Amino acid sequence: MAVVSVLVGWLTPVFYFLLLLLFTAFLGCCAYMKYVHMKYDHIPGPPRDSFVFGHFSTFMKLARDDNKLIHDKCIEWSEKYGPVYKLNFIHTVVIGVTCPHATKEILMSPKYTKDKNFHKSIFNLFGERFLGNGLVTVIDHDLWYKQRRIMDPAFSSLYLRGLMGTFNERAEKLMDKLSEEADNQTEVSMLKLVNCVTMDIIGKVAFGVELDLLNKSSPFPRAIEAVLLGLIKHARNLFFEYNPKNRAFIKEVREACRLLRTTGAQWINERKKAIENGENVPKDILTQIIKSAGQEESMTKEDEEVMIDNFVTFFIAGQETTANQLSFCIMELGRHPDVLEKLRQEIDEVLGMKKDVNYNDLGNLTYLSQVLKETLRLYATAPATTRDIPEDIMIDGIHIPGGVTAIVANSYVSSRMEKFFKDPLKFDPERFHPDAPKPYYCYYPFSLGPRSCLGLNFAQMEAKVVMAKLIQRFDFTLVPGQSFDIVDTFTLRPKSGVLCTIKHRHSD
Ligand code: HEM
Repeated sequence: MAVVSVLVGWLTPVFYFLLLLLFTAFLGCCAYMKYVHMKYDHIPGPPRDSFVFGHFSTFMKLARDDNKLIHDKCIEWSEKYGPVYKLNFIHTVVIGVTCPHATKEILMSPKYTKDKNFHKSIFNLFGERFLGNGLVTVIDHDLWYKQRRIMDPAFSSLYLRGLMGTFNERAEKLMDKLSEEADNQTEVSMLKLVNCVTMDIIGKVAFGVELDLLNKSSPFPRAIEAVLLGLIKHARNLFFEYNPKNRAFIKEVREACRLLRTTGAQWINERKKAIENGENVPKDILTQIIKSAGQEESMTKEDEEVMIDNFVTFFIAGQETTANQLSFCIMELGRHPDVLEKLRQEIDEVLGMKKDVNYNDLGNLTYLSQVLKETLRLYATAPATTRDIPEDIMIDGIHIPGGVTAIVANSYVSSRMEKFFKDPLKFDPERFHPDAPKPYYCYYPFSLGPRSCLGLNFAQMEAKVVMAKLIQRFDFTLVPGQSFDIVDTFTLRPKSGVLCTIKHRHSD
């Protein structure tokens, strides 16, 4: 008894001391948050949900609601609060920007690096290394520049011309599949089918691997879907990982990460062996990834991990966004018979009945370019990018103190604002007529400046070949009653999967 009372005598002041420490720390945090609020509160923005958590609860509600897009909320805020608005997340501040001059300044200058907080948060996914220091996510300028320079030859126009054969051949497999579906009069998900084609193409041209996903089952499409969904849950909901209800999904995401990375390691090793054996290997993305890691003798464990980071980066970035663009495009053509008819006329004129689309044909398919651009205006499949702001700047007359956690430029948001595009929700490819005025820093679906998409030309050549063949050969009708909503799985994709019935255009 005596021991207990001695212990209590000792512990009580310790307990009160700890409580005091905790309370002081809490007051310190609140004082810091007040300081942050005062520093940035002159910037307009929606009222905070709470002093401590800022706008978290609004974001969490939107993240949980499958029928709402955070990007649509951002349009609302941009329209209400102007070209620059502020959001708080505990002690961090995020600035949304639609001012074209600021967008130009921030995206075009290497001074504004990709934002550290967000990119650190997707380096790993639920404890598994995911995109790491790959080309899309790497922040360090020198490391990025070295990788990008080495990767450039695999995206040169000469090299891309040489890929026309593969684009045609893989798109032809889709035509065979559609032909079967037309004969059987079955409903098809165009998203699923074009996803198989873009994955087949990246497998072949980037890594020299035959996937043939239209005819063979594979764990990759589901793995990519899982990691992207995991990415958005992880990035938008602080507590997602700790909710026991999400355990099964998190396990699936971790397994998907491991599958992608072990596949990468295996394909890289096979290619390295082929190089060592003096085999004639293609100068494709895989070869460039291996080159970017440097000499074998001096290669560190981290260099090896970066090679795998880049494998995962290209496997995902190299197909997902294009598949989504193609399916949104098919969806809008299904909803706009007049646009489809005009496109059909152009394709018939340029291609006639010939089977293969050649490089010169691509340049002549100008209306198809307009249709694809307009698709990315309404559906920027990779909508936003974030930057750090190292020093104070002025945006539209508003002083933005440096050190702000992230500044967000979002092509989906500005492309859907009346201020920049008249009647913005109307699908109208004439906006991109060669004689129409060019949008000024309010349309950038491939981002802009040094960190813009390396695969822009690759993606648009591939998309043109697939669309031209599809429209040349088939009539498609959207299955009635399906949703035209967008689902946010980090990239944007059509919720319904774009269900269609297919008919042959020509009987032979
Ligand atoms: C419609 C198709 C595509 C769209 C809309 C798109 C969009 C984008 C966007 C917006 C970025 C900037 C991301 C950021 O700032 O965080 C980006 C970067 C990138 N994209 Fe694409 N992309 C597409 C297709 C492709 C393809 C086919 C490839 C490769 C074959 C590719 C490879 C890359 C790479 C490597 C980067 C990082 C560039 C760097 O930081 O240096 N993309 N893309």
